[in-house]
Amino acid sequence: MSGSTGEPMSEPRSGPPGGSTGGSALLRAEGLHKDYGPTPALAGAGIEVAAGELVAIMGPSGSGKSTLLLCLAGIVRPERGRIEYQGEELTRSTDARRSELRRGDFGFLFQFAQLVPELSNLENVALPLRLAGMRRRAAHAVAAEWLERLEVPGLAGKRPGEISGGQAQRVGVARALVTRPKVVFADEPTGALDSLNGERVMRLLVQAAGDLRRGGAGHPRVPGRRLRRP
Ligand SMILES: Nc1ncnc2c1ncn2[C@@H]1O[C@H](COP(=O)(O)OP(=O)(O)OP(=O)(O)O)[C@@H](O)[C@H]1O
Ligand SMILES: [Mg+2]
Repeated sequence: MSGSTGEPMSEPRSGPPGGSTGGSALLRAEGLHKDYGPTPALAGAGIEVAAGELVAIMGPSGSGKSTLLLCLAGIVRPERGRIEYQGEELTRSTDARRSELRRGDFGFLFQFAQLVPELSNLENVALPLRLAGMRRRAAHAVAAEWLERLEVPGLAGKRPGEISGGQAQRVGVARALVTRPKVVFADEPTGALDSLNGERVMRLLVQAAGDLRRGGAGHPRVPGRRLRRP
């Protein structure tokens, strides 16, 4: 995306091979500028992502990949530029609206799972559902289904500190997908894993994107109260 020296990202290429997603982009950004004090992180970055599309952002350390994700997710506000999610201009929306999207439409996965150490793995996976207003029992039932699906069912009652890094990352994947988000922002999701666990996590993400493309087939059904959607 940028040169090998880590200069700020300015000319990202994205979208399907051969060109733009046209009017079908789920997420679109253009002309993003973000400085951290005197340090430029983004200098005119843009991207287009279609529903169900898997996009990898590559570039040297310091080139602004994480900053771009944080801007797209509505966590960091760019100084200039425009971000649209489903046609809605995120760069103009209120903090409350952006929080709502982060709770409902977006899922997050980081290099280290960043699970809450005081909660059990099951409670960690259930947390986004609880924040979205789902009752405890229903949220735990859905979370348990996800842990089973990600082949870590026996770890539900343990805490994050009692499982391996690879297992924790799969719990993190479950937490990222449990609300059936339309966009998953993953920042170096396999960076801390060995190649086998890394492949596993990537396979799960590829599968989730495929499910989304096919209209959500394969996601466990959400029992009980439905998630509030904007
Ligand atoms: N919170 C911050 N405060 C100050 N400067 C920051 C902050 N976050 C990032 N930067 C700077 O912004 C630039 C882009 O950083 P960013 O983390 O987006 O890069 P990156 O491409 O994700 O790098 P890496 O591959 O190492 O994760 C860098 O020069 C970095 O030092
Ligand atoms: Mg980064």
